[in-house]
Amino acid sequence: MADGGLHGKGQVGGEALSPQRDLLRFITCGSVDDGKSTLIGRLLYDAGAPPQDELERLERDSLRSGSAAGRLDFSLLVDGLAAEREQGITIDVAYRYFATDKRKFIVADTPGHEQYTRNMATGASTAEVAVILIDARKGVLTQTRRHSFLVSLMGIRKVVLAVNKMDLVGYDQAVFDAIVADYRAFAAPLGFTEIQAIPVCAPDGVNVAARSTSTDWYDGPTLIQYLETVPLTEASLKAPLRMSVQGAVRPDPEFRGVSGLITSGHVQPGDTVRVCPSGRTTTVARIVTYDGDLPLAVAGQSVVLTFADEVDASRGDVIAAADAPPQIADTVTATLVWMDDAPLALNRDYLLKLGARTVAAKVTDLHHRIDVNTLQPVAAETLALNGVGEVTLRLDQAAPFDPYDEARDTGGFILIDRLSNATAAAGMLRQAVRRADNIHWQAQSVDRSARARMKGQRPAVLWLTGLSGAGKSTLANRIELQLQATGRHTYILDGDNVRHGLNKDLGFTEADRVENIRRVAEVARLMADAGLIVLVAFISPFRADRDLARSLMPADEFIEVHVDAPLAVAEARDPKGLYRKARAGELKNFTGIDSPYEPPLSPEVYIDTTTTSPDDAAAQIVRLIEQRGLPGLDGDGI
Ligand code: ADX
Repeated sequence: MADGGLHGKGQVGGEALSPQRDLLRFITCGSVDDGKSTLIGRLLYDAGAPPQDELERLERDSLRSGSAAGRLDFSLLVDGLAAEREQGITIDVAYRYFATDKRKFIVADTPGHEQYTRNMATGASTAEVAVILIDARKGVLTQTRRHSFLVSLMGIRKVVLAVNKMDLVGYDQAVFDAIVADYRAFAAPLGFTEIQAIPVCAPDGVNVAARSTSTDWYDGPTLIQYLETVPLTEASLKAPLRMSVQGAVRPDPEFRGVSGLITSGHVQPGDTVRVCPSGRTTTVARIVTYDGDLPLAVAGQSVVLTFADEVDASRGDVIAAADAPPQIADTVTATLVWMDDAPLALNRDYLLKLGARTVAAKVTDLHHRIDVNTLQPVAAETLALNGVGEVTLRLDQAAPFDPYDEARDTGGFILIDRLSNATAAAGMLRQAVRRADNIHWQAQSVDRSARARMKGQRPAVLWLTGLSGAGKSTLANRIELQLQATGRHTYILDGDNVRHGLNKDLGFTEADRVENIRRVAEVARLMADAGLIVLVAFISPFRADRDLARSLMPADEFIEVHVDAPLAVAEARDPKGLYRKARAGELKNFTGIDSPYEPPLSPEVYIDTTTTSPDDAAAQIVRLIEQRGLPGLDGDGI
């Protein structure tokens, strides 16, 4: 039978780990029933003996817990799960440290229940190897498949299949072989580069640290041997430089540096680097640390760089190898592992945290959910707790990133719910969506100011937003009449009308409304480009979409008008009888009833239609438009 097979000095507590040895991070997946705690306990024990007092406690407690005669209950070494708090939700991942004379280890231990997908995703995100536990009597279970899928999703490429409880199947090689064949067939599409299957009996330590005659048919490594010798991924050193900028360092006027963590690659003075997303290139002058300058810094080190030129780099930027920069995009595809009790809301603003950068982001498209048992895509409208799906994300501003499969640190992110501040999802970036690939802007000989001058007016987009029945269309009509009377060239884009033609394929879901506004914003832009004063009368309930419309226009040519009336008043007016239908449940997603309206925070004009008449309101807005003067005539033209 196996003996303890002690491998040098180990350390359960972890404080005194020697800095010279490599570090392997791995994760264990399996449930208590599979013997996971016992396996981890045995690993800690075999790796280097916990302190004497803890061993004595183990012997005492093992007797008390009724462990079979002579067997220690190793699961008692594994104390209760430490709860990690991250962004307001509890993630149950216990990190345990131990070492042998060959290597240091950090093992992430996560509860095995199905609902703990999020814990697993957290534990797996930094691990290089996954030890997947199987009960030899049960073979490959649904849970095994889920764990394997998640582990592959999080970028782990090496798997140990620990077939445990071999004693209970008489150390039968045929049972072991069948399980391994079954697992390999299932795991083929998951992209693992290595699957090392090991027959194990955790309480007796069989093939944990020591071999046993019971499995003399097995000639592979023991679990500890495997973990001690599996090659560490050096990709992070060989990969192109990425330094995640923490901030500028300016202790005195003479010194200008940028501090950050090198997440991949290496850097030397003289290297040409690119600051992303600005794209500026410069040369590294010095690598500064508390202990003096370095000739070289590598992934994992936090340093301060100084540059040959004055460059601006701020928190969240990425300093990259100039010839191999990250991608920069504001629209990306990604895989999400949903972690929140509140399900994914499409087109809602979340905060996306990617390295040191935080940007507002929305999920504009859920392509499909992935059934983690069959690995098949399934049509879905949302993602609930523990759901996994492929999505398109639109970020508020372009951010530098790498595909997760190439660089976990610059490709992995979390989504944070803006209200609850909880981590809503963990995500893996896949690729940039180039919205206008191979399309080039064509310069035109007659430009927008020439067209505006011919009309003798300064173009504008007057964006009227408000509840249905607030009075947008009425007001737009009065404004247009008054402008026409003074010879202005105008056009009204009205929600109801545009939905008869250009947007007749759109309904009233959030996603459709976002697209509705995007299209009308682009049309308004073209019309203003043609020299017109454009009146847009759309509910346009979402702030982010109105901001998008604003961003398409020169600053003083977008005038947001909040046409306001309390819901009760709009509902009492009910010009089209739609509120009545909505209240009766005959009309879904009606703004103000079962679909939200986000009022403007600082509109250029605010009109309360319960106190201001349409003509007065129109006169006020026309005055504002006329005050802006004429293009090219009054000196401050376009
Ligand atoms: S928006 O929300 O996408 O900006 P839009 O202004 O184009 O809305 O269209 C609103 C008009 O569509 C309303 O004036 C109303 O006549 C009609 N309508 C039909 N169904 C709905 C609904 N569920 N919510 C709001 N308006 C609706």
